[in-house]
Amino acid sequence: MSDEEPPRKRMVKPPAGGNEGGRGKPARLKTAYGRTPSQQAWLERQINDPFSAKARALGYRSRAAFKISEIDDKFHFFRKGAKVIDLGCAPGGWLQIAVERGVTTLAGIDLLPVDPVAPAHLLEMDFTADGAPEKLLELLGGEGRRRGDETKVQS
Ligand SMILES: C[S@@+](CC[C@H](N)C(=O)[O-])C[C@H]1O[C@@H](n2cnc3c(N)ncnc32)[C@H](O)[C@@H]1O
Repeated sequence: MSDEEPPRKRMVKPPAGGNEGGRGKPARLKTAYGRTPSQQAWLERQINDPFSAKARALGYRSRAAFKISEIDDKFHFFRKGAKVIDLGCAPGGWLQIAVERGVTTLAGIDLLPVDPVAPAHLLEMDFTADGAPEKLLELLGGEGRRRGDETKVQS
């Protein structure tokens, strides 16, 4: 028998889309023009992350969509009749999943602008600002909050 090893076969199929989850050479952006080093690093991570690629392929705005799906699979808080508020909702992945799972009364608030996620109400403001809680409650029908009504899952 020869000492030479046969060529290795790939045992695990990499996730569809994106590159090989860290194996191989990661894609680099050709230009960082106008971006800070941390923005550049974030963008390169997104481009090379298979979960972000999968989210894009399925039409979700963030890989966080998978995270909230898994949490809801366990706790089932996205149900018809639920009122949902996403504190820090950009780019809207969690809202997309809530809508997909039948929630019709929902609102998202963020410092950043968010593209519409019908039928969610969106507020572009600081959720710690005076008046933000009242605005959110008003958007959801104006009902007062009762202790124990909400399930808290923070972004
Ligand atoms: C991890 S992201 C949320 C991801 C989002 N839930 C999704 O579905 O993809 C956190 C967000 O919180 C927002 N944020 C942080 N502090 C905030 C504040 N005081 N008021 C409003 N939004 C805030 C940020 O702008 C950022 O978009």
